[in-house]
Amino acid sequence: MQLRAAPHGALRGDVRVPGDKSISHRALMLAGLAVGESRIEGLLEGADVMATAEALRGLGVTLERRGPGLWRALGCGVAGLAEPATVLDLGNAGTGVRLLMGILAGHGFTSFLTGDASLRRRPMRRITEPLQAMGAEVLARSGGRLPLALTGRVDLVPITYRSPVASAQIKSAVLLAGLHAPGRTTVIEPLASRDHSERMLAAMGAKVTSAATADGWTVEIEGEPELRPQHFVVPADPSSAAFPLVAALVAGDSAVTIEGISVNPLRTGLLTTLREMGGDLRLANQREAAGEPVADLLVKGSALRAVDVPAERAPAMIDEYPILAVAAAFARGTTRMRGLGELRVKESDRLALMAQGLAACGVEVAIEGDDLLVTGPVGATLPATIDAQHDHRIAMSFLVLGGLGAAPVTVEGAETILTSFPGFAELMNGIGAAILEVSP
Ligand code: S3P
Repeated sequence: MQLRAAPHGALRGDVRVPGDKSISHRALMLAGLAVGESRIEGLLEGADVMATAEALRGLGVTLERRGPGLWRALGCGVAGLAEPATVLDLGNAGTGVRLLMGILAGHGFTSFLTGDASLRRRPMRRITEPLQAMGAEVLARSGGRLPLALTGRVDLVPITYRSPVASAQIKSAVLLAGLHAPGRTTVIEPLASRDHSERMLAAMGAKVTSAATADGWTVEIEGEPELRPQHFVVPADPSSAAFPLVAALVAGDSAVTIEGISVNPLRTGLLTTLREMGGDLRLANQREAAGEPVADLLVKGSALRAVDVPAERAPAMIDEYPILAVAAAFARGTTRMRGLGELRVKESDRLALMAQGLAACGVEVAIEGDDLLVTGPVGATLPATIDAQHDHRIAMSFLVLGGLGAAPVTVEGAETILTSFPGFAELMNGIGAAILEVSP
């Protein structure tokens, strides 16, 4: 499917973007590990989360959809999942497959896991190594990649794992395996990554503690808890909000409100950066919903200037660099985004694809080591066609750019947007964008 974004003027209106992807995956998985009935409200019904739901069904969890975003789950209890009868295909979902591996490590059966072409390219050793240290057995394709077979154990060994990267997927996989190990499992990461697993597990009755230590950010979990079922309320996804947010900031006289997004401090690096760039962003109606800080975001069109984004901020905005790079193309000066090595192993090599795509649109861009440099403001952008390469955030970033520049941008493979943001084009068009399907 091809979508084409044509240049638009000011954007106006109130919108609500779909539920948070990270919290949606976790709500389904943790509901599956609770004893009894959980309810989920605001679940993201994108392809990634639906792949996790299907995998959990294959493992014996009862999941029913009761209405838009409203789900009911009957959990099997910690270590209560059943051997799946067939291969678990997690599609494009890195969070889905990696967190599930942590859970499966604590079950005494073999699971076969795979995903789409993008997921089968992504590194899995970062997950399988700590799980093997806890006692799971893994047989994987070369480079530790999917498809792989994982044989778990009911008596996992609790470990202390020092993760070389700040990654919530690595941390969560080890903590979820730690649920199945007697005693205390510890994960130390160089910087704190998003803490949704910790918050949700604690709310369900697990003993989880987190603290800054001399070694880094240290999280500990006591194994073998009984997890209480929950009423999960999933806030809107700040990583999805980032697209209408940047579009409204750059498009002249815009005024857009984005309702009910998670403003968890470990997710707000983009807001910090855009404010430093001169963006008029305000939070209103700040509240707490089921353990997550939530607020409405008021955005006004602003003149942006370039900034230097420190590497330490990356964990709090790791998925937002593609759209930040688009904002930087319209900001005065050279924006340097530091320490983006992890972008090379996302749904695509985002560092390379952003640099190539921006250059194709006529933006001055460079990669220096792990840094991305974008110089703006771009003059008249060039018409361009971008291949999304199974990466939803690449697709949406270039559609936003097409709306903000002087020439249309066409995105091939735009169906990948369904991964995280069903209704993206309709939502954007509802506030004044011009995104249409075109036949190839
Ligand atoms: C996620 C963690 C991040 C992020 C991903 C979702 C999560 O990945 O990029 O989209 O839900 O835990 P890493 O853990 O690889 O940093």
